Amino acid sequence: MSGSRSDAFVFFGATGDLAYKMIFPALQALVQAGEMEMPIIGVAYGHYTLEQLRDRARDSLEQHGHFDAAAFEKLAAKLQYIDGDYQDPATYTRLKLALGKAQSPIHYMAIPPTMFDTVVQGLASSGCADSARIVIEKPFGRDLASARQLNQTLHEVFPETSIFRIDHYLGKEAVQNLLYFRFANAFLEPVWNRTYIDNVQITMAEDFGIQGRGSFYDEAGALRDVVQNHLLQVTALLAMEAPVGHEASAMRSEKQRLFQAMRPLDPSQVVRGQFRGYRDEKGVAADSQVETYAALRLHIDTWRWSGVPFYIRAGKCLPVTACEVMVTLKKPPLAVFDGSPMHDANYFRFRLSPDVVISTGARVKRAGEAMRGEPVELVARHRSVHERSAYQRLLGDAMRGDGSQFTSDASVEAAWAVVDPVLEHAQPVHEYAPGSWGPAAANTLTADDGGWHDPKPEETRPC
Ligand code: BG6
Repeated sequence: MSGSRSDAFVFFGATGDLAYKMIFPALQALVQAGEMEMPIIGVAYGHYTLEQLRDRARDSLEQHGHFDAAAFEKLAAKLQYIDGDYQDPATYTRLKLALGKAQSPIHYMAIPPTMFDTVVQGLASSGCADSARIVIEKPFGRDLASARQLNQTLHEVFPETSIFRIDHYLGKEAVQNLLYFRFANAFLEPVWNRTYIDNVQITMAEDFGIQGRGSFYDEAGALRDVVQNHLLQVTALLAMEAPVGHEASAMRSEKQRLFQAMRPLDPSQVVRGQFRGYRDEKGVAADSQVETYAALRLHIDTWRWSGVPFYIRAGKCLPVTACEVMVTLKKPPLAVFDGSPMHDANYFRFRLSPDVVISTGARVKRAGEAMRGEPVELVARHRSVHERSAYQRLLGDAMRGDGSQFTSDASVEAAWAVVDPVLEHAQPVHEYAPGSWGPAAANTLTADDGGWHDPKPEETRPC
């Protein structure tokens, strides 16, 4: 299967939020790029007509994409719609009919995880799964046991090479650049290890709350929503070995080895927080213990990383919206200049969003007679305004059968094994003020390593 192009695109959840915000813009962009010469079939139980779905697509593009009249016209012409209950076999019979001559469709599941099982069985018994691919949204399960169960269900119907577990973070330009920067330069490798690196920090801060997603979020929390997937993926890209060969499987297997080397989290090294006011949100339990903030210390038991702490932090209602990686190097062995103690260790900073920055922190001598220095940053930056969106890129890859930016069965299970010990609220949840950097208790985690590095608001210097 892998390698041949899909010849029909089916998306379940066509009237839902994800389709509205992400999928229609990605579809229009793919049509525009000539990469979508196939039927596009939306499936949902939304009591829509095809005309209504087209209107919704147009509205979505006006709100969330760049509406382009010519591309939209092509998209609208390709669009078909099946309104049906996912439990009803007749829905899949109609889908099979709509697929017509298509030999290798791709089915994208933009639906709640509780429906995956039903839809997979429906696809299998109607023949819609034959020679097909499937794209599964996160969260892939809600813990290790349910992820294993879901993998088992999928494997009964689809071979692993036809399963694409999507994590949109992996489609981001800046996230792909982590890997590129590491393995396309020779100067990094000699220092990229426990001998030179002191600690690594990854912060994903959002200055907004849960944006009306109360009932989803209160079942998830920060650990399930962004740590188990997006932030452990970023960690894997920072820490994995170079893939051997160009096959998608080479990338997947190196990443998998890294996930398997992550030590399961120790509850005493995890701090959970909840912003004040969260419990008043619609869909949230009045006594909810769910975290909207998580900070943790992770260890990777490999020869390269033994003893190097990886600090990860994510939260809603923090002071800024930014995702940033800070790799701090050890200090020089002696303070030859500037007197002592030494400060300002060297570092590499990767700004993953909203802007894209790769920089390195160094000290240079200040002009003048004295051998006194100051910190500077050597910066490479670019803006990602007109790039392919993460969904455009990843859906395009999946349709070509390129699984290198998708998560394997073993990796997804290994990532759940890391967070599993702390999912059931092993630690109390600390309240924090909206607009703050989260609960003070989190500061103890990084106290020995110079504290947290707080990302700044979007940097506005010219590219
Ligand atoms: C999603 C989470 O997966 O990622 C959201 O469910 C989060 O809670 C979002 O806000 C962040 O992604 P991005 O690409 O908007 O930074």
